[in-house]
Amino acid sequence: SWFLRSAPTAWLSGAPARRTRPFASHKGQFGDVTVLGGEGLRRRGMGMGGAALLAGSAALHAGAGRVLVALLDGDAGPGIDVSQPELMLRSPAALQLDQGTVVCGCGGGEAVVEQLAAVLRQARRLVLDADALNAVAADDTLQDQLRDRARHGLMTVLTPHPLEAARLLHQGAAEVQADRLAAAAQLTERYACVVVLKGSGTVIAAPGCVPAVNPTGNGRLATAGTGDVLAGMVGAALAGADHGHELTPEQALDLARDAVYRHGELADLWPAGKALTAGRLARQAVQQQPD
Ligand code: APR
Ligand code: MG
Repeated sequence: SWFLRSAPTAWLSGAPARRTRPFASHKGQFGDVTVLGGEGLRRRGMGMGGAALLAGSAALHAGAGRVLVALLDGDAGPGIDVSQPELMLRSPAALQLDQGTVVCGCGGGEAVVEQLAAVLRQARRLVLDADALNAVAADDTLQDQLRDRARHGLMTVLTPHPLEAARLLHQGAAEVQADRLAAAAQLTERYACVVVLKGSGTVIAAPGCVPAVNPTGNGRLATAGTGDVLAGMVGAALAGADHGHELTPEQALDLARDAVYRHGELADLWPAGKALTAGRLARQAVQQQPD
């Protein structure tokens, strides 16, 4: 009973264990990440501006075996992003959503809404960010679908910032910020998902699990696109732990927590005098399984 009284309501999470990539590795072992998002090549006029490309870049640098990116509001079609030739651009229709890990909603706007029902039905492992979260918040049918996923053992990680969390909870952002642990817990219960409530002291929570508060990161991350980078890193973490069976909430929480830790750690170790941009952050992303 002493233990129960003194048990923390959240763990301040420590540094994740580092693993070694086996000598005879094959890219198929590190998982596919499919990014469905937007702000495409045409609209921005160049590749690195897009939220989905940032997420894809981060997933790649975080060690995903293959990264496919579909730009929903662009006109790129299949092709290459000349600044990141490793990213495989696909048209949304050509994606196989039931394979690997899907990261959805980094940009894409209204076009995400049209795709989301199919994504929620098919993706085995799913990270929902930004525009996808706003679409879910506005649509009861999508919310039911999200809960159905959990019943079928399909893993979903939500990565809201406080305003996105507020929309999902039909609250104000101030209310979310006043008790971030409570807000994260409400999100896990309401949507039966793993939740990464972003911002200073990111909370990582999962149904039935003790939540974690991330100790890394700082105000340098307060720049557009760093959230997209995190979504890609979480996607890579889920993809890298794909051993043919579905993840438990505990496992998904741990993987998300590790990704959040490393994302913040990059900012903490950032060289003085060098601006932290999302593109640079993505390229600094650390492999979960270093060589
Ligand atoms: N301390 C620690 N981490 C921080 C801090 C901080 N002070 N500030 C930001 N972060 C981290 C968050 O925890 C999160 O991982 O940086 C990331 C920011 O992610 P988002 O809030 O999703 O921001 P992002 O999507 O990259 O860009 C913001 O989204 O809402 C729109 O219009 C808004 O243009 C803006 C864009
Ligand atoms: Mg964001």
